[in-house]
Amino acid sequence: MDETVKITLPENDIPRHWHNINADLPAPMAPVLRPDTYEPVEPDDLAPIFPNAVIEQEMSTERAVEIPEPVRDVYRQWRPSPLYRARRLEKALGTPARIYYKYEGVSPAGSHKPNTAIPQAFYNKAEGVKRITTETGAGQWGSSLALAGAMFDLDIEVFMVKVSFNQKPYRRAFMESFGASCIASPSQTTAAGRAVLAEQPDATGSLGIAISEAVELAAQRDDTKYALGSVLNHVLLHQTVSGLETMRQLEQVDDYPDKVIGCTGGGSNFAGVAFPFLGERLRGGPKTEFIAVEPAACPTLTRGEFAYDWGDTGHLTPLTKMHTLGSGFMPPGFHAGGLRYHGMAPQISHLTDLGYIAPRAYGQLDCFAAGLTFARAEGIIPAPEANHAVKATIDEAIACRESGESKALLFNLCGHGHFDMRAYTDYLAGNLEAETSQMAEQSMALSGLPGV
Ligand SMILES: Cc1ncc(COP(=O)(O)O)c(C=O)c1O
Repeated sequence: MDETVKITLPENDIPRHWHNINADLPAPMAPVLRPDTYEPVEPDDLAPIFPNAVIEQEMSTERAVEIPEPVRDVYRQWRPSPLYRARRLEKALGTPARIYYKYEGVSPAGSHKPNTAIPQAFYNKAEGVKRITTETGAGQWGSSLALAGAMFDLDIEVFMVKVSFNQKPYRRAFMESFGASCIASPSQTTAAGRAVLAEQPDATGSLGIAISEAVELAAQRDDTKYALGSVLNHVLLHQTVSGLETMRQLEQVDDYPDKVIGCTGGGSNFAGVAFPFLGERLRGGPKTEFIAVEPAACPTLTRGEFAYDWGDTGHLTPLTKMHTLGSGFMPPGFHAGGLRYHGMAPQISHLTDLGYIAPRAYGQLDCFAAGLTFARAEGIIPAPEANHAVKATIDEAIACRESGESKALLFNLCGHGHFDMRAYTDYLAGNLEAETSQMAEQSMALSGLPGV
């Protein structure tokens, strides 16, 4: 009997194309709108903050988008990432389910985020950009762009949400080791940051505010652009390298997922593993189920409204139709910093609205408990964000145990938790709060949606 645990691919099998889900959509997405006129955005509107190649990808409907060779070359440092068969977890749960996880924690930054940081840095460099600004929540994205800046010789300036900046000093050190600078947001550096601090001097920050700060700086200088680590079409596109590898790895063991599971902050790691399979389903393939898992404290897909909203708190970004809790939503300071965003990727929102993605929400205590069950069986400590996917997978595996069905469950283990030991310390000491959707509802800001 084949007892393989790690299903691997040779370096030459790094995909040559990303998969663009826009080519498979059964109904077109709502257009992105200018915030001043409510007219559809044109490429020129985005040119002050993004390079042309990225803008083209944002609007592309071409199914297979070529991965440039210099990007594949850097991907080689850790890709193809392993697909694990979670045999020890299956045994611990006594489940007949076949559990697989794609492990993206093997990247230098410890998560899936370099999959898009590398191409974004490459395209910026190719168009003569010298400096990129960005925001980071948990620090994973800032670390990834810092790494990409070192690979392509670019200055990187990161606004890190203050609560994470204080929780995770080593993330800042990581970014600075690659030559990037890291500023706690809200900051005195930008008008957007100063406006928040004037009203709320103790503000602990949010991704929405940090995005405003980064976009404001990028728009001021011709040699500076902005990069986003999630939400936008081109970011989700870049992440599909992971799902495409997974398809080939599952072919090797002659399997195909019944359910694909990922946590969702802005939606990129979920899309990365899910979209290649979802594309097949939309083209008449197997009826795989897709489960997007979010925190109860920031329940964008399960409790938010599907409406036009700004991507940031300072209202500098275009308007996109997405599931949102309102751009003024201030999430409680729970420990999955990467999942604390008020909105959701428009592509994921659209596919959820069409019924192809089933969202669910869990509280952080349940997620940490699941993360430890996983760690003690498989030997990997997941990032707190990834614990949401772990929790859903364990629940599905237990449902299989109860029904006696042997389903193939695939989830994205999108990062390790080695920079998140504060969170595990707090959990193990019993110091974490059981946040709820009701708490989130109190801070929703849906009355502030634009009147489109
Ligand atoms: C480990 C990890 N997982 C998930 C996320 C959430 O982002 P996304 O939904 O874009 O994958 C983050 C964001 O920082 C992260 O660091």
